[in-house]
Amino acid sequence: MFFLMQGDYVWLDLKTGREFVVPVGAVVKLCDSGQIQVLDDEGREHWIFPQNATNIKPMHPTSIHGVEDMIRLGDLNEAGILRNLLIRYNEHVIYTYTGSILVAVNPYQLLPIYTPDQIRLYTNRKIGEMPPHIFAIADNCYFNMQRNNKDQCCIISGESGAGKTESTKLILQFLAAISGQHSWIEQQVLEATPILEAFGNAKTIRNDNSSRFGKYIDIHFNKRGAIEGAKIEQYLLEKSRVCRQAADERNYHIFYCMLKGMGPEMKAKLGLGLARDYCYLTAGNCTECDGRDDLADYSSILSAMKVLMFSETENVEISKLLAAILHMGNLRFEARTYDNLDACVVVRSPDLVTAASLMEVCLDIFSSSNSIDGGESPQISLLTLCFIMQGIYGRLFVWIVDKINAAIYRPPSCESSVIRRSIGLLDIFGFENFIVNSFEQLCINFANENLQQFFVRHVFKLEQEEYNLEDINWQHIEFTDNQEALDMIANKPMNIISLIDEESKFPKGTDATMLYKLNSQHKLNTNYIPPKNSYETQFGIQHFAGVVHYESRGFLEKNRDSLHTDIIQLVHSSKNKFIKQIFQADVAMGVETRKRSPTLSSQFKRSLEMLMRTLSVCQPFFVRCIKPNEFKKPLLFDRELCIRQLRYSGMMETIRIRRAGYPIRYSFAEFVDRYRVLMPGIKPAHIQDDLKGTCQQIVSARLGKQEDWQIGKTKIFLKDHHDMQLEIERDKAITDKVILIQKSVRGLKARSNFRRLRSAVVCIQKVWRGYRSRKNYQIMKSGFIRLQAVCRSRKYYRSYRITRCRITLIQACCRGFLIRQTFWRRLRAVLTLQAYTRGMIARRLCQRLRAERQRRLEAERQRLAEEEQLRNQMTVRRAKAEADRKHQERLFQLAQQQEERDREEKEEARRKKELLDQMEREKEQPVDHSDMVDRMFGFLGDSGPLPNQDGQAPAGFEDLEQTPRGEEAEEEMLNEAPPLPDEEEEDLSEYKFSKFAATYFQGLSTHTYIRRPLKQPLLFHEDEGDQLAALAVWITVLRFMGDLPEPKCQIVINDGSEKIPVMTKIYETLGKRTYKRELQELQVEEEVRRSIDSQKRNSVRHKLVSLTLKRKSKITEEVTRRLTEGVDYGLQGNSMLEDRPTSNLEKLHFIIGNGILRPTEETSLLTASTCCPPSPGHSTTSW
Ligand SMILES: Nc1ncnc2c1ncn2[C@@H]1O[C@H](COP(=O)(O)OP(=O)(O)OP(=O)(O)O)[C@@H](O)[C@H]1O
Ligand SMILES: [Mg+2]
Repeated sequence: MFFLMQGDYVWLDLKTGREFVVPVGAVVKLCDSGQIQVLDDEGREHWIFPQNATNIKPMHPTSIHGVEDMIRLGDLNEAGILRNLLIRYNEHVIYTYTGSILVAVNPYQLLPIYTPDQIRLYTNRKIGEMPPHIFAIADNCYFNMQRNNKDQCCIISGESGAGKTESTKLILQFLAAISGQHSWIEQQVLEATPILEAFGNAKTIRNDNSSRFGKYIDIHFNKRGAIEGAKIEQYLLEKSRVCRQAADERNYHIFYCMLKGMGPEMKAKLGLGLARDYCYLTAGNCTECDGRDDLADYSSILSAMKVLMFSETENVEISKLLAAILHMGNLRFEARTYDNLDACVVVRSPDLVTAASLMEVCLDIFSSSNSIDGGESPQISLLTLCFIMQGIYGRLFVWIVDKINAAIYRPPSCESSVIRRSIGLLDIFGFENFIVNSFEQLCINFANENLQQFFVRHVFKLEQEEYNLEDINWQHIEFTDNQEALDMIANKPMNIISLIDEESKFPKGTDATMLYKLNSQHKLNTNYIPPKNSYETQFGIQHFAGVVHYESRGFLEKNRDSLHTDIIQLVHSSKNKFIKQIFQADVAMGVETRKRSPTLSSQFKRSLEMLMRTLSVCQPFFVRCIKPNEFKKPLLFDRELCIRQLRYSGMMETIRIRRAGYPIRYSFAEFVDRYRVLMPGIKPAHIQDDLKGTCQQIVSARLGKQEDWQIGKTKIFLKDHHDMQLEIERDKAITDKVILIQKSVRGLKARSNFRRLRSAVVCIQKVWRGYRSRKNYQIMKSGFIRLQAVCRSRKYYRSYRITRCRITLIQACCRGFLIRQTFWRRLRAVLTLQAYTRGMIARRLCQRLRAERQRRLEAERQRLAEEEQLRNQMTVRRAKAEADRKHQERLFQLAQQQEERDREEKEEARRKKELLDQMEREKEQPVDHSDMVDRMFGFLGDSGPLPNQDGQAPAGFEDLEQTPRGEEAEEEMLNEAPPLPDEEEEDLSEYKFSKFAATYFQGLSTHTYIRRPLKQPLLFHEDEGDQLAALAVWITVLRFMGDLPEPKCQIVINDGSEKIPVMTKIYETLGKRTYKRELQELQVEEEVRRSIDSQKRNSVRHKLVSLTLKRKSKITEEVTRRLTEGVDYGLQGNSMLEDRPTSNLEKLHFIIGNGILRPTEETSLLTASTCCPPSPGHSTTSW
């Protein structure tokens, strides 16, 4: 009972009952809904009911993400191994270890793991140090060979298409690379492969480059580890392929390559055409193979043949023989009846002729042959032909292998000092179990049975024996020993092979009699499965990997493999030396010997025994190739196919034995010599007294006493990982010493280097720091400058504020002073006025009193004169009375006159008072500026042609202008009046305007007033705006003075501009640069104006002007005249100057505004001159 959680990994047993189905790995997706939902490795979902909970088992952590060495798998079963391979395969990791056995899954795609870098990476590394790789196996073969001075072998097995040949080639390449001589012989060994593949490989449905023979390549190395030669052993070429191919399969590559690559001349010579023309090449209905380039292959085959010393003649002869086989394949037979007997004859055809000429035989040979020409039936004749051709091809292949061996094999030297070591690579077909298994399958499975036996012996049996011999603690392990099966097949008397052989040699022997004998001999053997009944032709054998049923039919024929007598006849009759050469051995044998020549099975058995003998003296490595799918597709993993192959490879046994045993062992002396570096102070083995004790000391110190290692009588036994650990430590210890030496040398080198570098670095540092400091300094400097600027600005601002306050104070004081001064001046003026007025009043009173007195004195004089006069007429007294009476009357008149004057004065006072009251009232009224200005400056237009020349002075100025004649005396009197208080008289002679004008005015301008626009401002201005402003002000002054007409545009454009305040317009105007253009136009117009004919007078404008011009306008007559004469003073582009006529107040505002906004001397001057009307004395001549 176990609890599951989401994400847990489990084994799911689907219990299909199928032979090759094992539990599949799965991950739990849901487990809280009563049922358990799992997703298996194939991506299928399963719902597990609680009652089926026995179907799932927890997965060991090692199986979840996979391990590099499957011995470490917790779930050491087929499912565990399969899943481990699957996980890695999906990640493109095709190699996995099982101890020192390598499992290679065919990737069916080129992986980037065979580069020269990878070769370097795997060179001289222990197994397990680096991830599993075919190079690691090759490397260990090579270095074990050198290290242990022992031959090595690598047994590469697997199904067809599993990658055996590729692995063999990779190992060869690696060995060639690391032996590193790049010698001719090395090249020859490598070049043997394309030739062997051309003649021995063909396209099958399972593999496009299937090796149809087994081979063992023994590579020989000299003492220095360089390749010095090789020997190739071939097993069981599938000769039947020469004549027959299954559907979608091809004959051997060489036929197709030859037909594609051979030159036309040669082809013509051999009478060759295209592949499709030959029956032997089209039986499988497939002449092309995807991914193979027959043309390119042919040239590489030819070049490889050259490297392997095939002469040109030999090449031609080989081609001739191949061509002859193809032509022979096209022969046809016709059925005939001779003497009531069925027979057949070969049809005479060009193919027959060509074949005969190629083989250099006469055509009679065919008619003299009973089997070919004149055989029982066409079918039998065809079959016979087939055997002949197979025989020829078989001998050709053997010859080629011998030829290659002749080139690459160097027999061992007789000198005992010359040691030669070898690495053997066995690329042999794996265990096979088809639906129908023939004699070849029996041979193949027999070979694999032997290899398994070898493996089991190596891994287990010999081990166990040795453990017992060495008297070490060894826990007995159950294992399947296939010795019994082997005994039954080939070892014990009356074994299956010997029975087949015997029956083959027996002339009357048939497949049925053979089967009968097999049954009767072995029916009691547990490893033999007899046919179920007497009709069945199949018998079964219990192999190490399972039961295989063999079809007994054809066994004897195949086993005989005897050369047809016709072939010998053909060879005899042939004049071709090459044919004779390849059949040399058979021809030499003689007929009887040949009849007794060994059968195929006995030959195979013998070569197998030799092979096993060779292997038994080697240290073996095993590579198990697995084919992941039948479709040659990458990343497609067929579980059932893989489990079948795993089972057939005996992997489980392997794992169990390897795990349980001690695969690594050393003699004590070897061990001490090898690992004494790990314990300082241990002497070499030959001067050691207690070797066993020393071994024990080293091993317990390095591996620990608790570890599972054993000390025997003469050897020490270790596990794989112990060996690895010790090797790594040894390497480390040696490396440490090497490093120590290197360290000292490098130290010396490095120190001198360092000194050089240091001085260079110091120099760079110096420069860099200098640069950095300078940069920093610049940054800081600019920072300080900014800081200073800020401080200074604050300081200046502070001092400015203080100064400003002070100036403001001074200004206040000054203004106060000036105002006080003005006040006092005014006060003095008021006092003066008062004094004068009072004086005037007093003088008037005085004058009046004087006049009164004068009149009284006059009246008295008159009375006295009258009294004198009357005395003459009357009495004195009466005269005096009369004179007094008249005197009184005159006094009375005088009193009346006086009264009258008083009354008038009173009246005058009252009138003035009223006037003042009225003015007071008017002050309250809203002011009409135009009226006011008109009133103020109306005097300009009231008089003659020039303003102020004649006419009335404005109100308020009359008194000053006109002094009544009658009062001149009084004025004189006034002049005589006491002097006014002293005024500070300034000498203004220096500041005369004419002098100023002469000094500062530009061009021809003088201090005198002119009535036309100026061409340039009076004063010099740098700023163009000021220049234009001055000219504009001057024009406005002229208009204000009435010397220039208002703008001609009288049509009121109601754009609202009249409502815009004058100051706004001034700002606008001042901002405009159009001034210049306007003024220039104005000046030009001025010029033009002079030349305009009087014909314009009657123009429409003239009428308009005359209509709109007020008769009582304040414009001077001259202006009126000019306007009515049509003189055009219009300005354009300036709202102030041209848009519309402006009132005097507006003009005044414009002029004053300019004076304010552009306080240049000129505008101030113009403004001042406009605002202060010139005095009458200077009105015509000066400003
Ligand atoms: N390591 C590999 N990398 C890439 N492709 C491979 C590898 N091994 C095998 N293959 C592919 O698989 C095909 C079959 O391989 P190979 O010829 O070595 O099989 P085999 O075991 O020798 O088969 P047979 O018994 O039929 O000769 C190769 O042609 C190649 O395409
Ligand atoms: Mg192969």
